[in-house]
Amino acid sequence: MDFYLELDGSGALHVQLTRALREAIMAKRLHRDTRLPPTRTLAHELGVSRNTVLAAYEQLRSEGFIVGKVGSGSYVAPVASMRSAPPVPKQVPPPSRYARRMRSMHHVSRKPSSTTLRYNLQYGEPLLNPKLTSTWRRELAHASLYTPPGYPRTRGVPELCQAVCDYLGRRRGVRVNSSQVLIVNGTQQAMALAARVLVDEGDSVVVEDPQYLGAREIMQIHGARLVAVPVDEDGIDCSKLPRAAPRLVIVTPSHQFPIGSVLSLPRRIALLEYAVQKKCWILEDDYDGEFRYDAQPLAALRSLDSQDRVIYVGSFSKVVLPSLRLGYMVVPEALMKDFTIAKWLSDLGSSAIEQVALANFMATGTFERHLRQCARMLKARRSALLVALEEHAGAAIEVVDSDAGMHLAAWLPDYDETRLESLMDLASTRGVGLYSLSPLFLRAPARTGLLLGYAGLSVAEIQAAVRILGTCLRDN
Ligand SMILES: Cc1ncc(COP(=O)(O)O)c(C=O)c1O
Repeated sequence: MDFYLELDGSGALHVQLTRALREAIMAKRLHRDTRLPPTRTLAHELGVSRNTVLAAYEQLRSEGFIVGKVGSGSYVAPVASMRSAPPVPKQVPPPSRYARRMRSMHHVSRKPSSTTLRYNLQYGEPLLNPKLTSTWRRELAHASLYTPPGYPRTRGVPELCQAVCDYLGRRRGVRVNSSQVLIVNGTQQAMALAARVLVDEGDSVVVEDPQYLGAREIMQIHGARLVAVPVDEDGIDCSKLPRAAPRLVIVTPSHQFPIGSVLSLPRRIALLEYAVQKKCWILEDDYDGEFRYDAQPLAALRSLDSQDRVIYVGSFSKVVLPSLRLGYMVVPEALMKDFTIAKWLSDLGSSAIEQVALANFMATGTFERHLRQCARMLKARRSALLVALEEHAGAAIEVVDSDAGMHLAAWLPDYDETRLESLMDLASTRGVGLYSLSPLFLRAPARTGLLLGYAGLSVAEIQAAVRILGTCLRDN
């Protein structure tokens, strides 16, 4: 044999030999028309059985790398040697306008959840209800037995669409029938579908300022021109909505993200009138509207929408688990067909087993019980955070009043961005993860502050974290 073959030791011998020969052909160490050694000879040289070589040759023949028959010799096929091409460079220029925008706008440097921090006050950490695990395991096992094995209905399995309607009517004041519901893989997919269906490159989309990064980036990278409208203690300031009709307005009326204000009734009415007047659509992101602690949950904006202008989006990320990746949309009749096709093109429908399990879970009292348990846990964590902030950070921090959700916003009146960065660095060295509000603003904010997520820590952990935050505020 006048070429060198090295078996890499991974997998069965005939698989290793096939791989080694294929690589030699691709790298042109074995040229077209080269006669491969007879199977007996190669087996002898490599110290393997002849069957191993026969199996490798047979595999390469079926892949088109070699031609010829056992007995008359095997040759490297012409087509195979032509396949070798220069390796794809590790970096290429953006292959599309979408990729160009993505590369320039998506800042992957955003800190991921850290495992080195003892106490991570990162927003988005899930609330774990220990009682959920066994229920969910049961529901999944049951659903996997009874879910039809074919592709699911694109709009969502009927049982879940119905369970969502019942839930929306009962808890969010939204009366719809199941033909208006589209099950999606979380709010993020709802926004991606909205971008595809409603927005062309260059169209304007109104976002609150500050806003949720997932919403902002998906629209920007899609090519939308963002119009940032400020928010105050009554939610988005409708007097500052643009005169020129936007395509879409994205809002978080029940609990403004991240500030926490609730959109007042006069502004809800003004916003709905604006949508009718400008013939634009409103995307209501009701990401955590379920959790209100000092009063009943507020009815959703969609409940006031008599003109079918509001696309309502709800998520199971906060009320069950983010890893589930399930959410739902209530889609205006005029758009339902477009959204359903866009969903089909995107993924042919969300996982049916999880949908059936969730539908069962929601249809029993267990879901409501789970919601009550979560609300109790969150309320305790929120009060612990407020009490601890008052005790350890009182003068330095101004907490924004909000009695809902899984996070609080807090201003640091004496801090600029540089000082805040150094506070976050110091806290990190002491084991506490802190996150600035600034990246959530499109226009540079007048103040600096922190986004304090409390769902992922126990009461004791929150107390310990804020105690450390207090020492950092003193030492920074
Ligand atoms: C304001 C807001 N909208 C949407 C989402 C994303 O939800 P989902 O997990 O359903 O994609 C989040 C997640 O934290 C959020 O904070």
